[in-house]
Amino acid sequence: MKKILITGGAGFIGSHVVRLFVTKYSEYQIYNLDALTYAGNLENLVDIENEPNYTFLKGDITDESFISNLFEKYQFDGVIHLAAESHVDRSIEDPMAFVKTNVIGTVNLLNAARKLWANNAEGKRFYHISTDEVYGSLGAEGLFTETTSYDPNSPYSASKASSDHFVRAYGETYGLPYVLTNCSNNYGPNHFPEKLIPLFINNIITNKALPVYGDGNYTRDWLFVVDHARAIDLVFHEGINHETYNIGGFNEWKNIDLVQLLCSIMDDKLGRVAGESAKLITYVKDRPGHDLRYAIDAGKINKQLGWEPSVTFEQGLEITVNWYLNNTDWLNNVTTGEYATYYKKQYLK
Ligand code: NAD
Ligand code: DAU
Repeated sequence: MKKILITGGAGFIGSHVVRLFVTKYSEYQIYNLDALTYAGNLENLVDIENEPNYTFLKGDITDESFISNLFEKYQFDGVIHLAAESHVDRSIEDPMAFVKTNVIGTVNLLNAARKLWANNAEGKRFYHISTDEVYGSLGAEGLFTETTSYDPNSPYSASKASSDHFVRAYGETYGLPYVLTNCSNNYGPNHFPEKLIPLFINNIITNKALPVYGDGNYTRDWLFVVDHARAIDLVFHEGINHETYNIGGFNEWKNIDLVQLLCSIMDDKLGRVAGESAKLITYVKDRPGHDLRYAIDAGKINKQLGWEPSVTFEQGLEITVNWYLNNTDWLNNVTTGEYATYYKKQYLK
């Protein structure tokens, strides 16, 4: 039986990846390693937590000896590495937390994998999950391809760029078998309400201001999280060793247009008069170093591995909004405690 370590599996994207692997591959033993930071939540996995091929391990990837011992004990055949500090605004407040988890944590995992697989790398694979933000910012035209130069602008993207470089360096220097993907903005169920879409859904439900940064004319490419998990499954199994694949939704939206759309969907769902939720839109001080536009050319994964998104944005938003409206306990649980302190500091100062 193959032993696969998924890091950050209690987070937003990680929980969807864990669910897909646990339910699809009964021949794998799936180990979910997560430190359960503010963003990690075992409630995301209640439906699969008792499956025989699933094991949760609480632990911190920045702890070098813990990681080294873990690899020795379990003898993993593959690693899918998602654990990270993931929010740009938090990286502006505390860059070092991002260096620790995203850079040092990744290097700890690379060292442990390199040591374990030193004499037998056959069939082994280290899969590093990264972001399109490493490529920097686009103007009105153009798309990021796999050969676009790195040009990160936020502490978050600088830390992810650094971890990408370490993964490739371990491939070149030590022959570590790896694959790497850079994906655009995900959305969907279980998304922590610090990010644009779940934050605004929660604020519309609770009648709070919708804080649009700057003029709202920033552009992102949005992908439904389950489609990202499907792409991860494909690249883990069929991606070529030492290759990078960009993943995107072919779905660019200006923030303000997306917010208007979300407001109209929510008016409908909540039985409000058309235009009611949009009254909550408030333009606020811009994010420092705000990247203007991200847009992905996902042609390589599409042509070489046959991947494409399975749901439209309309379908994905419908599923997402319904999920938040049907999971108010989840939302209430994650918006108390640390979240309230973060929210106050970020939006009410
Ligand atoms: P998230 O913040 O929702 O989850 C991160 C998870 O990592 C949490 O469960 C957290 O507890 C865990 N974690 C954090 N620090 C840890 C540590 N030191 N040790 C062990 N576990 C730790 O993040 P996400 O949005 O699900 O992103 C997952 C990955 O995908 C990240 O690497 C991120 O850079 C990448 N990514 C995210 C997006 C997106 O739109 N969310 C897009 C592209 C790439
Ligand atoms: O592109 C992939 C990246 O997408 C991932 O690597 C990151 O982990 C993920 O957080 C996301 O980064 P963004 O910064 O693009 O996502 P966020 O949801 O924070 O913001 C989306 C856009 O909305 C961005 O232009 C900033 C804007 N925004 C965000 C928040 C939280 C607002 O206008 N107001 C807000 O309150």
